[in-house]
Amino acid sequence: MKALMLSGGSGTRLRPITHTAAKQLVPIANKPILFYGLESLAAAGIAEVGVVVGRTKDEVMEAVGDGSAFDLKVTYIDQGDPRGLADTVLISREFLGGDDFVMYLGDNFLLGGINDVVERFRNRGSSENAHILLARVPDPSRFGVAIMDGEGKVTGLLEKPVEPPSDLALVGVYLFDPTIHDAVRAIEPSARGELEITDAIGHLIKTGKNVGASMVDGYWKDLGEPEALLEGNRMALERLTTMIAGKVTDSKIEGTVVIEAGALVVDSVIRGPAIVGAGTVVRSSYVGPFSSIGRYCRIEETEVANSIVLDNAVVSQIAELEASIIGRYAQVLKRANRPISNSIVVGDHSRLELI
Ligand code: DAU
Repeated sequence: MKALMLSGGSGTRLRPITHTAAKQLVPIANKPILFYGLESLAAAGIAEVGVVVGRTKDEVMEAVGDGSAFDLKVTYIDQGDPRGLADTVLISREFLGGDDFVMYLGDNFLLGGINDVVERFRNRGSSENAHILLARVPDPSRFGVAIMDGEGKVTGLLEKPVEPPSDLALVGVYLFDPTIHDAVRAIEPSARGELEITDAIGHLIKTGKNVGASMVDGYWKDLGEPEALLEGNRMALERLTTMIAGKVTDSKIEGTVVIEAGALVVDSVIRGPAIVGAGTVVRSSYVGPFSSIGRYCRIEETEVANSIVLDNAVVSQIAELEASIIGRYAQVLKRANRPISNSIVVGDHSRLELI
């Protein structure tokens, strides 16, 4: 079995963080979202992965390399502009050959991995042509939604319906046999101009193929939006085990905390679960639960909790920072001189909630 890992697309809902960076490379607990997915593929015994890349391909290729860091053999498939999830199958025809495969959306985070569902698909005999994972959500109109019959069989799928027929959202992990290749060729682009994988799976159902479904095991989140990213960060931090490799002086470390090698924590309180990246200096500050501080950051005289601070950012003399995402090389500083009004240089699509 092979895999397609989708790492193209535009990431508009995570702007401005994704103006300059691939959304799949935004870190939670200091590790890119995409890496969790690649690790899950390797853990499920998959060796060959086609990574679909788009406008951010250079960055993704630099981060993932040849895949050997994950025990994977990676082939890059350049999609250019995002033309839909089914289009990624279409352009990967040669790589996929006649194999079964897992399609994994690079911004999806599944805490429990995919071992069980991959194993079941491997051992299914000829009973299923495709298998989808579902999860109950409070806001189904933001997802692909499944229509089920009384016996729990999927009878149809709708992409982001205004009036959802159920609360069963499609999770971004799909298993296919080669019959999907005819289906992606048979469908037309949707109203938003994309070749939808929901339409391709719908085509399988209409042409009498067998599409199985099961509920996802454990925590799942599409990390495409800021609030979701913070929630994913909290879940990922909870899985850490304490490791203090950096230098800590005159400070209190409580709970599960990772201080990476080369980090310096002085005169501060770090209350886990939290991580402080390599090369970062935390001085006279409080880093509260569910905070991920990236690499080469400077946190001074600041209180931060439930937040993600990306690499090379500076936060200085900020009394209380909560539920915040600070981009790379961003500076959040207390104004030194009067007038004490806010002075802001803020990027396109940013969001500031000031008091
Ligand atoms: O997260 C689950 C949802 O993912 C499903 O419930 C929906 O049915 C499915 O369409 C998808 O919806 P999204 O709107 O969240 O998809 P998004 O455009 O964010 O793309 C998902 C991933 O695939 C993302 O990492 C970018 C990548 N992608 C996307 C498109 C459209 C590509 O690599 N190429 C593409 O053409």
